[in-house]
Amino acid sequence: EMAPEERAFQEKIDADIKIEPKEWMPEGYRKTLIRQISQHAHSEIVGQLPEGNWITRAPTLDRKAILLAKVQDEAGHGLYLYCAAETLGISRDQMTEQLLSGKAKYSSIFNYPTLTWADIGAIGWLVDGAAIMNQVPIQRCSFGPYSRAMIRVCKEESFHQRQGYDIMMKLVKGTDAQKEMAQDALNRWWHPALMMFGPPDAESVHSAQSMAWKIKMNTNDELRQKFVDETVPQADYLGLKVPDPDLKWNEERGHYDFGEIDWNEFYEVLKGNGPCNAERMAARQKAWNDGAWFRDGLMAHAKKREARKMA
Ligand code: ACO
Repeated sequence: EMAPEERAFQEKIDADIKIEPKEWMPEGYRKTLIRQISQHAHSEIVGQLPEGNWITRAPTLDRKAILLAKVQDEAGHGLYLYCAAETLGISRDQMTEQLLSGKAKYSSIFNYPTLTWADIGAIGWLVDGAAIMNQVPIQRCSFGPYSRAMIRVCKEESFHQRQGYDIMMKLVKGTDAQKEMAQDALNRWWHPALMMFGPPDAESVHSAQSMAWKIKMNTNDELRQKFVDETVPQADYLGLKVPDPDLKWNEERGHYDFGEIDWNEFYEVLKGNGPCNAERMAARQKAWNDGAWFRDGLMAHAKKREARKMA
């Protein structure tokens, strides 16, 4: 039996009324939001690293300016999301601590290396494409600060997706070597991009409750299918081949059928055994350590001002 306040809460959710930070909410709702929003924020922050790797090597000044702006956007997304999570009663320091201790996850996708310039195209096209597919529905989620943050984030993500596709267009119209580079990037990023949507529905522990609370609006498999259906024609237009021999349009279902995903690889990446997990964590740890003098300085300054006020 639901307690009366919990019933009133669920009625609001069912009526699509937003929940705001100071209002009553079940502890499980608060915890789930903190988990998902903080992991989302961590993903944006760690997500700067694979692309940051190419800023100094972008092929033209324009490409460099665009990539720099894009990576800065990711930092901004991380910051809005940390702020949204803070309204639920967790501090930024606590979230950072959870990331650095390995307690909080970040998206599996950012544990893969960016080997060539074409990877920057593939990330914008596929990774940001998958991110939009997942985040557009979250604009309608039940928690006010999260839903509002998603509106701006999605606008910027669509620019990111377009810039990635534009890089791919340029490469496929280039030399044979450039076209091969584009195909190789698609080969390496396709399956990791499909894994971004999370485990298959049958193994998704949080989906049912999160959907009842409208923290999640769709299941993992629904969004994965939608992504495949929208992205395959884009690959066709580029003249690139999606690396899946079982990929086939299914007239009856009105969707593409696609091959089995290697979920073992996904779970290994989640356990910390992906190709770049150690490198990513080391980079974040170093950034935190390198900032210690600045945090100490801020605190010392605040204390001095406080003391002056008292005097
Ligand atoms: N990478 C890392 N961990 C994942 C991933 C993934 N791609 N998919 C699922 N998981 C984790 C979940 O966090 C959960 O672990 P936890 O209990 O320790 O938190 C576990 O696997 C089980 O999965 P689900 O029950 O399906 O988890 P959930 O309901 O949270 O669904 C999803 C996962 C779809 C990623 C959801 O959290 C979500 O929509 N998040 C918001 C979007 C987001 O974080 N995007 C980040 C990548 S995009 C970008 O930043 C550019």
